[in-house]
Amino acid sequence: MNVITKSSHMYARALELKKRGQSIGLVPTMGALHEGHMSLIRQARKENDVVIVSIFVNPLQFGGGEDFSRYPRPFKKDFSLCSRASVDYVFNPAPSDLYPDGFSTYVEVDNLSSVLCGKSRPGHFRGVATVVNKLCNITCPDIMYVGQKDAQQSVIIRRMAVDLNLPVVIRVMPIIREPDGLAMSSRNEYLNGREREDALVLYNSLMLAKNMVKAGTRDVTRIISAMKKFIRVKKNALIDYVAVVEPDTLVPFKKITGQCLIALAVRIGKTRLIDNIVLTVKKKP
Ligand code: PAJ
Repeated sequence: MNVITKSSHMYARALELKKRGQSIGLVPTMGALHEGHMSLIRQARKENDVVIVSIFVNPLQFGGGEDFSRYPRPFKKDFSLCSRASVDYVFNPAPSDLYPDGFSTYVEVDNLSSVLCGKSRPGHFRGVATVVNKLCNITCPDIMYVGQKDAQQSVIIRRMAVDLNLPVVIRVMPIIREPDGLAMSSRNEYLNGREREDALVLYNSLMLAKNMVKAGTRDVTRIISAMKKFIRVKKNALIDYVAVVEPDTLVPFKKITGQCLIALAVRIGKTRLIDNIVLTVKKKP
């Protein structure tokens, strides 16, 4: 496995690989790799000649009071996980390589970026879209692998790829969970024992919604109120949002029909966690 730190070197290598007719799978990450990331890497390994994993804690997607400086950076461990998973290249640039002095061009995906997580994290998805576009330009992937865990991010990346004619297929992979249901996340590391228990409230509230829909409830206001009531029982939990939306446009539903995305963000102590499920409700004939 090769670790490349310069975008010019990475691009030169990607061009060579393409010239040789090799297909490239890209898994963009911020490191602190866990099974969620590894599932994307394994899928990339299955479907491509060459697998590139980018590890870059992207300053552009963190807001002022957010956790950029304390975000975990266990790079050595990450490199060895990648090596064991038969990754060909880890692209691990410095912020100054991707954002040299004078950097002033950004990718904005309108509308989709200002709802849900975008409301409390202004500028976050501009940072995500900009870096993902750059990573695509540098690594020339045929397929890029992203996780449903970050549902809104996946929608935004798919929209950007279409709108900017990026020559890449976006593969969205299912959420990997801990045995008790907690969605795996690099930020779970921040949780102490008590908070780890309380964090389960996200998944359990989604299961509550699922069961309500299964029992015939279609009214979104009722579902959201029940979820919020359930979450508020935990003193440590502060709700950012609970939403039921159309999975591609993120437009809120009033009544559950067809496919719907139930998504939420909740602060457990100081740690902001997100989770979601997609439900499919067959329309009555
Ligand atoms: P990061 O949080 O490291 O996640 C990298 C990729 O792994 C994302 O596509 C994310 O959705 C996926 N992922 C994380 N947890 C997962 C889980 N439990 N199951 C399945 N997939 C999971 O998301 C980012 O980094 C950044 O915003 C990035 C796209 C790299 C741009 O900087």
